[in-house]
Amino acid sequence: MHSPHPGVYRVNGRLATCNLAPGHKVYGEDLVKQNGKELRSWDAKRSKLAAALVNGLRLFPFQDGARILYLGAASGTTPSHVSDLVGKKGVVYCVEFSATVARDLIAVCETRENMLPIVDDARFPERYSDVGEVDVIYEDVADREQVLILEENAKRFLKDGGLAFFAVKSRSIDSTRPPKQVYSEVITRLLRSFDVLEKIRIDPFHRDHLFLVLRKR
Ligand SMILES: C[S@@+](CC[C@H](N)C(=O)[O-])C[C@H]1O[C@@H](n2cnc3c(N)ncnc32)[C@H](O)[C@@H]1O
Repeated sequence: MHSPHPGVYRVNGRLATCNLAPGHKVYGEDLVKQNGKELRSWDAKRSKLAAALVNGLRLFPFQDGARILYLGAASGTTPSHVSDLVGKKGVVYCVEFSATVARDLIAVCETRENMLPIVDDARFPERYSDVGEVDVIYEDVADREQVLILEENAKRFLKDGGLAFFAVKSRSIDSTRPPKQVYSEVITRLLRSFDVLEKIRIDPFHRDHLFLVLRKR
């Protein structure tokens, strides 16, 4: 069954996307054949984007042909579902700075033509400037400077009016203060260059995170 978001399915009550690399699993997810398609279950405990969908995310620009810059790709769990969603005409640039984790990411990218690994530090977007303009930035990096990372990458790559999906991790920014205080400061700062379109708590799947949808002004 389709959910209201294009490309997102529900199988036995769980989210799923249509596998762009049939037969290949990325993180032990279930593969289910349905109406001639192979669907991959999408685990909200493993993916903040799936958790945001379960908790009511409305805007969803991960559509056929979209160009996505994904910061903090890790071993490719969520990026692989984004790759399913944007399809062969789209592209997912996957930035990950840990060489160990990136080994698994590269293996996933080898099975998917639209997923391109960039083993580099998202604090230095000038080092991967050939990415060019993108429709969407997705950021999920556990870094104290996660707001600055978003600002600098958006300035360089995100089209005007483009959307940013941002998993704010309060403990990475300041573990000594209550998450609500950290979120409030983050939002005040982001309002300098973005409109805040959605704010979604992603409990109980991911604690101490706020998921934001932003539009670049
Ligand atoms: C929470 S994990 C990402 C999980 C992934 N988004 C998913 O849902 O499948 C955060 C990742 O960000 C990476 N990271 C942290 N700081 C970074 C930076 N400055 N540049 C690139 N990657 C970074 C970490 O190595 C880690 O793999």
